[in-house]
Amino acid sequence: MPITRIEPHDEFLRIHFAPGESPRHADFHWFWLRHNSELDRHPITQERIVCSSELPLDPEPRSVRIAEDADALDIDWGHRPDGKVSRYATEWLRAHSYAADRDSPPAPPSDIEAVTVDFARLEEPLGPKIFRALEQHGLLIVRGYGLDTEALIETIGQQGLSVIETHFGRIEDLRTDNTTNRNTDQLGYTDSAVQLHTDQPFLDRPPRYQLLHSQRPAETGGANFVVDGLAAARYLSGLDRPAFELLRTVPVTFHRKQKSFERVLVSPILDFDAPGGFRIRYSYFTLAPHQRPFAEMEAWYRAYNRFAKLVRDERHQYRFLLQTGDFLIYDNWRMLHARTSFTGARWVRGVYFDKAH
Ligand SMILES: [Fe+2]
Repeated sequence: MPITRIEPHDEFLRIHFAPGESPRHADFHWFWLRHNSELDRHPITQERIVCSSELPLDPEPRSVRIAEDADALDIDWGHRPDGKVSRYATEWLRAHSYAADRDSPPAPPSDIEAVTVDFARLEEPLGPKIFRALEQHGLLIVRGYGLDTEALIETIGQQGLSVIETHFGRIEDLRTDNTTNRNTDQLGYTDSAVQLHTDQPFLDRPPRYQLLHSQRPAETGGANFVVDGLAAARYLSGLDRPAFELLRTVPVTFHRKQKSFERVLVSPILDFDAPGGFRIRYSYFTLAPHQRPFAEMEAWYRAYNRFAKLVRDERHQYRFLLQTGDFLIYDNWRMLHARTSFTGARWVRGVYFDKAH
């Protein structure tokens, strides 16, 4: 059963076998392959002379290739003074496969073209387009809409979405010299970077959608990025099920304390059982000190950091810069959003919406 194709991923190697054979493909973690290499054997007894604890958990091979002259796979781990590579016979791989024909959820999408439209070229009414994009992708970026936020609120309102007033006010003027809002003692009103988060996770029902309408771009910086948190959660469940289960089941505390506003809410980060459907609550700046039994704390932090690493990977993000008159609208129950630091008089208007009820 020859190997027909190899597909390297960050965490594992997928090996495809000849068509019509079973399995069609099998996945092997890089560390598993490194540990099970025949390289570290005693020359006389052929016993393994290395323990997995002596090897890195994230080995990065220098090269991987299908052997030309044998029914096998060769991996050069790049650290052998003798230049030897690991050889894995196809039949051995098949016999020891532990993830045959694994159905793996895809990585969070990053195709910006799929979620961006040019207002002047729209061939359908804007309202229904927004609504469908939110359902399908969790966001929409519209270029060249213009500056009239109230007209936009009305268009969105015709889709059955009402403006949700929050402790900031009805419309947030996100600018460093804000004079129109309450409770502006938070990162959004500064020129600092704001890493990935969801808005207002400390509310029992966080606002469902947020519109970010650009009135004036920054001089430098001020780019946005958005990640599909639901896709990231599913992706994590395929890579590391215990980590996913911890984020799905362990409650954490969100605590927002501003000069004249305070809320506390306890919920898991990935909430698949919330009324109205999935919601992710994710906010490093409103996460209260986590409390768990001592022997469980390390595992939770490992899970949380693994998810953070996954969503902070630029390959899993939609990245863009809003120009004057552009807007972004996203589903705050599903998507994480962020912006880079900036200079200049950047001005974005933020409005929350939820279904009228
Ligand atoms: Fe935000």
